[in-house]
Amino acid sequence: MTDYEKDTLRAYRSAQRAGEYKRYNSSDWSWGRFVTWLEQRAIARELSRYDWTEADRLLDIPCGTGILGPILHRFPFRITACDISPEMMVLARSEYPQDRLETCTQGDITKTPFPRQSFACVVTLGFLHRVPLEIKRETIREIAALSTKLVIASCSVDTKFQRFKHSLLKKLRPSHIPAPCPMDMDSLRAEFAAQGLRVVRAFMVAPPFSAHAVFALEK
Ligand SMILES: C[S@@+](CC[C@H](N)C(=O)[O-])C[C@H]1O[C@@H](n2cnc3c(N)ncnc32)[C@H](O)[C@@H]1O
Repeated sequence: MTDYEKDTLRAYRSAQRAGEYKRYNSSDWSWGRFVTWLEQRAIARELSRYDWTEADRLLDIPCGTGILGPILHRFPFRITACDISPEMMVLARSEYPQDRLETCTQGDITKTPFPRQSFACVVTLGFLHRVPLEIKRETIREIAALSTKLVIASCSVDTKFQRFKHSLLKKLRPSHIPAPCPMDMDSLRAEFAAQGLRVVRAFMVAPPFSAHAVFALEK
């Protein structure tokens, strides 16, 4: 059982944790940086399938330290970044195209302050696999309500192979911590469908090594 408030909601509320997160995912020679790079490539490819214009708004939530930022320089979106942690957002701002970053604002993904249907595209990375089912549902309901066209979400997927891999890694390296709340593909599809989101593409980012999957969802 994961403790959502301790492990996710409040876990990133320090400058030290934010700095460590950013280094592990974007500058260290780490597995996290490699998977992040693959994920960025995959998301850029998904975004490239559509004709976006300067009228389109994109919401990056939770934006964390702005991992999505670098790829948005290639697209014309007006951008909103949002996270519960101001400490993470401090490190995110500089990643986005500065002339198109409309706001970087603190908010809870389960009950955001944004008007319904105000974003052509909503991107939710690295969050769903951290939270229990009830929060997954509230999150999917919220991001579906905010978007008009496309939602891109990532989530670690639960499979027999990934469980075996994690138990092996735990023996080899006791500090190994897998995503606390992965979900199997079919259940994720059902949760998305329940909120009116159709899975148009779903793929693993680095099969079979990483459990990380990306979903492109249309309204
Ligand atoms: C693992 S990080 C992922 C960040 C970023 N999307 C990425 O891929 O690097 C999880 C983020 O979720 C944020 N967070 C946790 N609970 C939240 C909530 N209820 N609403 C908004 N952000 C939340 C944390 O502050 C943290 O920045």
